[in-house]
Amino acid sequence: MAGSITVRGKRISTLFSARQIDERNAEMAAQMRGKFKSNPLVIAVLKGSFVFAADLIRAMHASGIEPEVEFITLSSYGAGTESGDVKILRDVDSDVRGRDVLLIDDILESGNTLAFARDLMLKRGAGSVEIAVLLDKHSRRKAQVVANYVGFDCPDHFVVGYGMDVGHAFRELPFVGVVEGDASKAA
Ligand code: IMP
Ligand code: MG
Repeated sequence: MAGSITVRGKRISTLFSARQIDERNAEMAAQMRGKFKSNPLVIAVLKGSFVFAADLIRAMHASGIEPEVEFITLSSYGAGTESGDVKILRDVDSDVRGRDVLLIDDILESGNTLAFARDLMLKRGAGSVEIAVLLDKHSRRKAQVVANYVGFDCPDHFVVGYGMDVGHAFRELPFVGVVEGDASKAA
């Protein structure tokens, strides 16, 4: 832990610093170099991925990749529970047929969200579907999903910051942190 700060009266401990995240984003983008057969269609899975996606696509640019960028808003009711129902709250506008799709999400946990998004894009005729996540909580996995690009293995804590929230709070933090005490009461 690289320290902690107080936000909304809560102590937030740093799990991954802004600098560590920057470095990993550059490494992941370097790993992608030359891997896509054609310009990829990046689809950011909102809302939690918006900061990560914004940084990763710019790191991809630095790696010479020229993606188109799209968004899908998904909501998983009972994420982390048995049901794992995923709903499309706002769909992509683009035709994904034949495209090399790169799904970007903040956290791969049960895998229900990304399994749903991957299967949806394949069903719609995507040529390939790859997955980039900032954090992988693999101890929580329920669905069959493997991310092609992973920022960090994440311990089984509830994390906030860098786009991730509790009740829409803490998304603005430039690092990934853990709320000390009961995260569910933090917002
Ligand atoms: P999955 O469908 O269980 O893989 O759910 C992953 C989604 O749950 C992520 O995209 C996040 O939006 C959310 N999520 C899971 N763990 C956390 C966390 O620790 N903090 C904030 N959001 C989380
Ligand atoms: Mg999410």
